[in-house]
Amino acid sequence: MTGNELREKFLQFFADRGHQILPSASLIPANDPSILWTAAGMVPFKPFFTGAAKPEYKRATTCQKCLRTPDIEEVGKTARHHTFFEMLGNFSFGDYFKEKAIPWAWEFVTRELGLPKEKLWISIYENDDEAYDIWHKEVGIPAERIVRLGKDTNFWEIGVGPCGPCSEIYIDLGEHRGCGSPDCAVGCDCDRYLEIWNLVFIQFFRDEEGNYTQLKNKGIDTGMGLERVASVLQKVKSNFDTDLLREIMDFTARLVQVEYGKDEKTDLALKVIADHCRAVTFAIGDGALPSNEGRGYVIRRLIRRAVRFGRLMGEEETFLHKVADAVVRQMSDSYPELKDKKDHILKVILNEEKRFGETLAHGTEILNRLIEDAKQEGRTIVPGPEAFQLYDTYGFPLELTQEIAEEQGLSIDIDGFNKAMENQRERARSARQETEYISEAAVLLKNIREERGQTNFVGYNQLEAEAKIIALIKDGQLVESAQAGEDVEIIMDITPCYAESGGQVSDYAKISSPNLEVMIYEVTKPIENLIVHKGKIENGLLKQNDSVRVEVSKKRRLNTARNHSATHLLHKSLKEILGEHVNQAGSLVEPDRLRFDFTHYSAVSHEDMVKIERLVNKVILANLPIETFETGLSEAREMGAAALFGEKYGERVRVVKIGDFSMELCGGTHLHSTAEVGLFKLISESSVGSGLRRIEAVTGDGALKYVEAKEQQLAQIAQLVKTTPQEVVRRVEALVKSLKDIEHETENLRAKLAKFEVDNLLSQVKEVNGINILAAKASAPDMDSLRGMADLLREQMKSGVVLLATANGGKVNLVAAVTKDLMARGLHAGKLIKEVAQVVGGGGGGRPDMAQAGGKDPSRIQEAIAKTYSVAASQILN
Ligand code: ALA
Repeated sequence: MTGNELREKFLQFFADRGHQILPSASLIPANDPSILWTAAGMVPFKPFFTGAAKPEYKRATTCQKCLRTPDIEEVGKTARHHTFFEMLGNFSFGDYFKEKAIPWAWEFVTRELGLPKEKLWISIYENDDEAYDIWHKEVGIPAERIVRLGKDTNFWEIGVGPCGPCSEIYIDLGEHRGCGSPDCAVGCDCDRYLEIWNLVFIQFFRDEEGNYTQLKNKGIDTGMGLERVASVLQKVKSNFDTDLLREIMDFTARLVQVEYGKDEKTDLALKVIADHCRAVTFAIGDGALPSNEGRGYVIRRLIRRAVRFGRLMGEEETFLHKVADAVVRQMSDSYPELKDKKDHILKVILNEEKRFGETLAHGTEILNRLIEDAKQEGRTIVPGPEAFQLYDTYGFPLELTQEIAEEQGLSIDIDGFNKAMENQRERARSARQETEYISEAAVLLKNIREERGQTNFVGYNQLEAEAKIIALIKDGQLVESAQAGEDVEIIMDITPCYAESGGQVSDYAKISSPNLEVMIYEVTKPIENLIVHKGKIENGLLKQNDSVRVEVSKKRRLNTARNHSATHLLHKSLKEILGEHVNQAGSLVEPDRLRFDFTHYSAVSHEDMVKIERLVNKVILANLPIETFETGLSEAREMGAAALFGEKYGERVRVVKIGDFSMELCGGTHLHSTAEVGLFKLISESSVGSGLRRIEAVTGDGALKYVEAKEQQLAQIAQLVKTTPQEVVRRVEALVKSLKDIEHETENLRAKLAKFEVDNLLSQVKEVNGINILAAKASAPDMDSLRGMADLLREQMKSGVVLLATANGGKVNLVAAVTKDLMARGLHAGKLIKEVAQVVGGGGGGRPDMAQAGGKDPSRIQEAIAKTYSVAASQILN
């Protein structure tokens, strides 16, 4: 049975039992800051288990792409660890519970998959007698093959949310796969007992602080590792030998010209590359990008690890993007989104590979220096902390450091390296704890929401509202009142104020009642359904329970809406002009400008910028209606709404639809029709990371101001070149041409001047003992032109000696030249200049035909010139 067949069989089995088959959700979890990745099939369903959202179906089944990194170091070393894997699952949201989940699981593994009953083992949570009874009495598993295990293995939870005790199905792969320890049993870390299916009996909710409360509805969440089960069915010794991964490994082996199955090191490298490449291919496809933080850092680390394993096999070229291509080919039947994103995925990986190549080159340089230092100091060991820094800062793999050092007869202080690594982990752990700590402020807000109710946001349709103050917070403490001059955080039962989110800045507003005025300068939504207004009390006293009037600043709201609606027009126009690979990666919507980050690989050409701007303005002029409505996520998707990664199944979503031009999921505030944008002007385009571009633009008032500034600039230029703006181009063209003419003429004049100077100098030639000597002061801006002049003079004189001197900024330049015939008579430019230069306090020398020197005393140039005659005369051999 191939991996694909197994996937289909599982989904069909549960579809036949009333489950809705749903597509895999994104690897990037929606609105769930408690986890970085979708690491289990149940993650997208969390709100259905808790009752926070109503599912369309009470039973669902999925094959979910999953990413987990805690075991990254184990990948390839064991038969079953991965970072990326697929999880098959069946789910019940308050519908069936253990009584059905257990017998179905048994039926599937024994009847559908035909696994031998006598090799299957069951684990249950210590005191879960209900599960025990179903397994033993109903299913008929002998008591000795049901083991009770503790919370470590048999209680399942992930981040904040639904969780519960679980029961697992294991298969005994035989003693030969075991670790040989007398204690080896179900739950042992070795490869003998392979856990193939985990059935979670969801019944608790775990909050941020780690407290468990009983859920109203019980549910079922199960997870079966596709690769593991495929390995059992295909009777191969590891997940990597199943068709799912083997094809990718074989592809890599051909690419880097090695053979799988020959030596352990190569096999490990092929496995790691296959695993990591699947992970990054899917994650980048779902919108992640390499960076130095959070999710992006995981991507970076996976790519670098894979590349580094490639290097260990001797691959020096970029190769991982080619492996990613193989992953796309193999997986896109089941995950069609990969095909659409292929170009983007491959380019991002290639870019990162190249960057890492540079890092490695830089690291090599540093390592060579470390080796040099060690050698000079007579050491044979490179210190551990330094090797660690190389690893940590430059991503330089220890194995590579070792190899290079060994070539030079040195070794690495591994203990020191490990110690430095441990220290760093310790630092990372404490940093994590800090961020996981839930702030007092959040607890306070939750209590307010629980005890006093939530905020009803009415600001999509109205800019004013009558509201009641339900809480006031000053310096982190609840207060009953606040007075003029004080800054305070205000929570009301109703608000028309938009809280900063989705890249759109918050509203400004005024809160008032007779004798009271508060200016609101920031609005946030720190927890669900609670809006906090930060403001300063200008006049009066503000008290809890007061009834007040809230008025949003209309101008700021309208200008912001212009930029927000324009952002949607820009997004769609970018896709039309540059291609479908363009996706929003971030945005900032302010009243006076908008900023839009998107995926694209090279600078956007000027031509395309013009096209994009024209298209946006065309849609503005067409005055298309802008409508907003709420619907279910799947309906929105069907309508073709552009969604950022990360929405949850079944969630109510808000759609912003601009005529038939654009449709996006969005919670922001928008205009009623496109003409209200006024005018759209692009102002810049730049890079903000590999494969990421940023565009800035202005609309409405901002665009007018921008155009006015440009016009003013033009008027200024026109004034400077003494013409009108209409004529300015022609005038500048004429100016440029006349500048060129003038330069040309200057050139001619200079040449004439030089000739004049030469003629003038030639008139100063003197004859001494039958030879022509020209020693004179000349004017030349530098040594080069002085030498050129000496050359020219020597040529004109046919037979003679030349010495030229110039004074330049307190220094003296000297050049001497001698014709060939006189060299035969003993004259030597180098020797001549050496003596002459002494007079002006300098030195120099050179060849017999041409020499140059410098001096420091311009006041003695005449003396030096005079000396030339006597020195030259003394050189003549008779
Ligand atoms: N959520 C359970 C797991 O991932 C099924 O193991």
